[in-house]
Amino acid sequence: MTKKVQKTVGKQSQAAKWPAASPVATVKTAPAAGTKHISTPIGSSEFAEICLCPGDPLRAKFIADNFLTDCKLIQHVRNMYAYTGFYKGVRVSVMGTGMGIASSQIYFNELIKFYGVKTLIRVGTCGTMCAPEKTKLGDVVLAMGAGTDSSLNRMRFGGWDYPATASYELLRICDNIARDPKMGIAKQLKDSNNKCMVGNIFSADSFYGPKDHIQVPLLKKFNVIGIEMEASCLYSLANENNVDALGINTISDEIHMNGYDPVTETYADPANKFWYKDMPPEQRQSKLRTMVTLALETVVEWNKNKDKWASSN
Ligand code: HPA
Repeated sequence: MTKKVQKTVGKQSQAAKWPAASPVATVKTAPAAGTKHISTPIGSSEFAEICLCPGDPLRAKFIADNFLTDCKLIQHVRNMYAYTGFYKGVRVSVMGTGMGIASSQIYFNELIKFYGVKTLIRVGTCGTMCAPEKTKLGDVVLAMGAGTDSSLNRMRFGGWDYPATASYELLRICDNIARDPKMGIAKQLKDSNNKCMVGNIFSADSFYGPKDHIQVPLLKKFNVIGIEMEASCLYSLANENNVDALGINTISDEIHMNGYDPVTETYADPANKFWYKDMPPEQRQSKLRTMVTLALETVVEWNKNKDKWASSN
């Protein structure tokens, strides 16, 4: 098992670059010097300062296998895989966070507070209420701000509403890369009739919200273009701890209201309020690749000038 944890993955292997990995804790050995949820030893610098954060740990593995070189699995507690490797010479980690604020905030907190991660880029999916007028499946949303129905930010911000926003420089760099004809992302998006948008999203605490019938029309009315479950907490944590964060989301599902009347705020058939359109499974891989390329190119550009831009300076 220990061997497996230390296995080198990714395209090339230059294990010499790496310090020896820590052994996995067993009942008989001293407790691992990690956190409650991450076994990587605190202070070991096995995490890079920049970390991509997909919700799904298998997406972390996919990114490590397909995009990073000289890559190593550095944590697997609860199968929440974390890897560190290189992209175009920049050292970068990727770690799953699970779904929702309750799970992801554990990892965001620990990455920032125990592992010295200073730049976190969430790469995830979101639903949209604004199709077909403004959005469609496969569009990429760079989350400028994230509202929420979670009480977490209020609890942490004295009961007031926290302005949960992305790190401006990260957002600016990412948006530029998405538009730059030389970078190839714009072409990839255009070829599939998609676009990259900057806008506000909503981090819902519940995927099956008891007030969806009220929330969804409001989100649409206020031009909130995406709904996911993590960004508002990532943004507040990043700002509180003087680190940088950005949420990049591919629209994976459209949420449509059935016969909704905005004047009376009623649905034609109260038993059948919504219909949904999901991204076909065969498209998910290529859309994920586009988003990850965008995130990693952002990392490269950010890394060039992070001493100038980083909030942690
Ligand atoms: N709601 C919440 N989170 C999501 C959705 C959604 O529709 N799609 C992808 N993540």
